Amino acid sequence: MTLPNDAPPPGAATPNPVTPDHATADRATPDRATPGRATPGRATAPKILFDCDTGIDDAMMLLYLAAEVRAGNAELVGVGTVHGNVDARTGALNTLRVLELAKIDDVPVAVGAERPMAQDVHYALDWHGRNGLADLDLPEPAARPSAEPAAAQIVRLARENPGELTIVATGSLTNLGAALLLDDELPALVREVVVMGGAFDHPGNSTTHAEANIYHDPEAADLVFAADWPVVLVPLDATHPTAVGADWLARLAGHDSSIARFASQIMEWYADAYTPTLRRRGAVVHDALAAMLALTPELCEYVERPVRVELRGELTRGMTVWDARSLPAPDSRRPVRIAVGSDTAAFQDCLLSAVLSL
Ligand code: BDR
Ligand code: CA
Repeated sequence: MTLPNDAPPPGAATPNPVTPDHATADRATPDRATPGRATPGRATAPKILFDCDTGIDDAMMLLYLAAEVRAGNAELVGVGTVHGNVDARTGALNTLRVLELAKIDDVPVAVGAERPMAQDVHYALDWHGRNGLADLDLPEPAARPSAEPAAAQIVRLARENPGELTIVATGSLTNLGAALLLDDELPALVREVVVMGGAFDHPGNSTTHAEANIYHDPEAADLVFAADWPVVLVPLDATHPTAVGADWLARLAGHDSSIARFASQIMEWYADAYTPTLRRRGAVVHDALAAMLALTPELCEYVERPVRVELRGELTRGMTVWDARSLPAPDSRRPVRIAVGSDTAAFQDCLLSAVLSL
């Protein structure tokens, strides 16, 4: 499959090119005001519900969002966790740890599905550590996960905030799939769903063709792409080119605050895991890009296509599939907005400045 990178084929959305401002002079002290902080014209801070499997890049995403919440650019209404990098309960405790470190202590964190819909559970301990956070010896969080299951929390928050909720999903999609089964009016209640997952013109990272968040529950992912709601998909094609390198890691390590030290420790561990794949020192902070695009969509270019998940392939189960032909076949599915290329410098500067602002 080929990502269209010339003229968009008929039926595709017009890509929204951004002009990277690579002229930002002093990378050591990035200006938090430089990258767009909130979508122009949006009167109120967007209400974000995270669904994640915390995880090192999920933790970096939470730090990024905590900075945006502190700056008044976003409201975090809840977090749900799901099996994926680690089990859902460990992910919830990790989420509470990270939020407490960032002094965000009034957000409900709900434990979600511990298993996929139709296969065995798989974790990604090699990439994130046995505890999901680089095997650091971290204290127990002060708060406990809420009693409500994550899928029920999605439905409740969507009903309490009709048309307002942006769901950012950076783990397996089991909770979202279950929420769709719980309430068939859910798609009409949600403003947008931003998913980190999938791979089109890029190899998979769990298997040759499948990206981890889709591979961990292909049936749930297909339910999410089949639903009639606005989905933005941030696949490996978009995240891999934004990998941070040794310079970025050094700038993070050079900052002396408890949050910067924590971020640096987990990112160095993550870079150890990533370096053989990237063939240079660095790491891909997938989930932070998805969260940033939820708040600052203009940092990326997109194409629009219906997306399906391969559910039966012997070698390709969990692969995301789109019709990339110049004349795609008619499809009853609502097109998904797929991120295909982003402003790497703006992403890296914005992420670093967010973490250093805490
Ligand atoms: C995704 O898989 C997980 O391991 C990461 O946290 C990210 O959400 C990347 O494929
Ligand atoms: Ca994740």
